[in-house]
Amino acid sequence: MSDSFPLQKLQNITTPFYYYDMELLERTLKTVSEEAQKHGFVVHYAIKSNANPRVLEMIRSFGLGVDCVSGFEVQRALDAGFKASGIVFAGVGKADWEIELGLDNDIACFNVESVPELEIINDLAAQRGKTANVAIRINPNVNAKTHHYITTGLKENKFGINQWDLEKVTDALNKMKNIKLEGIHFHIGSQITDLSSFQDLCVRVNEIHEWFVSQHLAPRVINVGGGLGIDYEDPDQNPIPDFEGYFKVFKEGLNLRGDQEVHFELGRSITGQAGSLITKVLYIKEGVKTKFAIVDGGMTELIRPALYQAYHKIENLSSAAPEEKYDVVGPICESSDSFGKAVSLPRTSRGDLVAVRSAGAYGEVMASQYNLRNIPASAYSDQL
Ligand code: LLP
Repeated sequence: MSDSFPLQKLQNITTPFYYYDMELLERTLKTVSEEAQKHGFVVHYAIKSNANPRVLEMIRSFGLGVDCVSGFEVQRALDAGFKASGIVFAGVGKADWEIELGLDNDIACFNVESVPELEIINDLAAQRGKTANVAIRINPNVNAKTHHYITTGLKENKFGINQWDLEKVTDALNKMKNIKLEGIHFHIGSQITDLSSFQDLCVRVNEIHEWFVSQHLAPRVINVGGGLGIDYEDPDQNPIPDFEGYFKVFKEGLNLRGDQEVHFELGRSITGQAGSLITKVLYIKEGVKTKFAIVDGGMTELIRPALYQAYHKIENLSSAAPEEKYDVVGPICESSDSFGKAVSLPRTSRGDLVAVRSAGAYGEVMASQYNLRNIPASAYSDQL
């Protein structure tokens, strides 16, 4: 049984739903903002991790910018009141309408992932008589030592421009009249807990940066992406990631000129620990090895365990009985619809509320309507 959940109040809400600890989100934002400011670093929030309007409202109140990867995200950020001058737009496959949306709203920067994309941005900007700010996303070929589905900075990944193609980029840039090179951009992956990967990234960034300088191009912005991981095993012990240690790696690792800005795109580390999926036990069923606790939420609400074999801590909020082992599974017609196997939980019965922890990032926003289910509702600690 966890003391951090207001059980009585949660019991009155129709399950499954996302529950956001707004105080924790606020403390996390305070920490990340203060630690970034110590070094003059700029943080853009990776809206892909969670685009819930209340969550966005809180994030906006701390003055963060937004990192978007679709026109829909750009629109959501604008609707949530973020200034266009704080919006950056990345992604390997930006459609024309998405680029046009960014141009028409004068967003801060396009993070460009190929020469053909650069050409289209240049054309669309020319049609509008505008100059588009761009950062070139470079694939640094650094191993993020994380799950292979969420590593993005290896040379075989689809993201960014490989180092050996950079001359093509500078040739193209020299010809383009409606593009301004604002910066260079990197992102090596997500849920990175071994900070040495970020040290490796700094080494590559310095090399690539120097190459740009040797080409008489001096990028003003060095964007090192996101990726800082969270503690899925023990969210109560480590509710806020080590932003201090993380930023220190870049402070010490990057060779910067005085007028340069370092930008970050953090998603999971900001929203991850603040959200839980709350679901109700429907049935207990005897299995071959363990019992099944069949809950009313599933991979449609939280797909991470099914998609990445991701671990999320599971807690029974209603029971304090001696522990037994359960396979905690959802109602969806897929064998991968499981939140955890042989999970130790206090003896569990129909009607108990279960929290699937650390689900604030890539949870609600990845929900689907498979089996024609509803998109999950949400509840907030400060509005119960
Ligand atoms: N910048 C870029 C260019 C990205 O691709 C991402 C995440 C981020 C920033 C933010 O990364 P974060 O700070 O959140 O690690 N759905 C997966 C994670 C996919 C991450 C995609 N890119 C999951 O549930 O683990």
